[in-house]
Amino acid sequence: MDLTQHPDAQRWDKRYTEKNEAGPACAVLRENLHLLPSQGKALDLACGLGANALLLAQQGLSVEAWDISEVALQKLQATAIQKGLDINCRQCDLRSSVAETNSFDVIVVSYFLQRETLPLLAQALRPNGLLYYQTFSRLRVDDSGPNNPEFRLADNELLQLIPDLHLRVYREEGLTGEVEKGLRNELMYIGQNTRSIV
Ligand SMILES: C[S@@+](CC[C@H](N)C(=O)[O-])C[C@H]1O[C@@H](n2cnc3c(N)ncnc32)[C@H](O)[C@@H]1O
Repeated sequence: MDLTQHPDAQRWDKRYTEKNEAGPACAVLRENLHLLPSQGKALDLACGLGANALLLAQQGLSVEAWDISEVALQKLQATAIQKGLDINCRQCDLRSSVAETNSFDVIVVSYFLQRETLPLLAQALRPNGLLYYQTFSRLRVDDSGPNNPEFRLADNELLQLIPDLHLRVYREEGLTGEVEKGLRNELMYIGQNTRSIV
């Protein structure tokens, strides 16, 4: 199928036609830059306008940015060229394509939830590789983000979906304590591949 005709591409192309600024990278990446390797290959999966990709490339990593929206990818590629950053954009349907096993040192995914892909992302990490993940939780204090529960994670669900990685960072506060403070409506995760190649 020509991906420009794909319903997801058409929906997201429309949104990105009206949007130009990538905005800030996701908090789990911004707050944990110190865990990144000083060099290596990174993937921003379902990158949109590529805020995560731009930050990863600024940290010295060689970055791939994948998304189904050609409009978003063209904008990201232009920004990367203008800033002289090492970012290679690729249009793909993530429902049918996955990252190869043992191919990335860092993978970042923000606000894209495809449950069956998560174990494959763990396998796509090279030894010591890191998966940064941030998305919406079902426990919420306001109506931000998608309403379809399929696009939000149940309490602690992520930990069942990615069993193979060593947990480095996990923050999911649910409705505990003073709900007007802290990280609400979302959760953040960093896991590391501590397996060695056999
Ligand atoms: C909520 S946006 C998140 C974008 C970016 N990660 C961020 O945090 O700003 C979801 C992204 O998933 C992409 N997407 C949706 N369905 C897709 C699919 N089947 N294959 C690849 N990308 C897809 C959209 O184009 C969009 O950029």
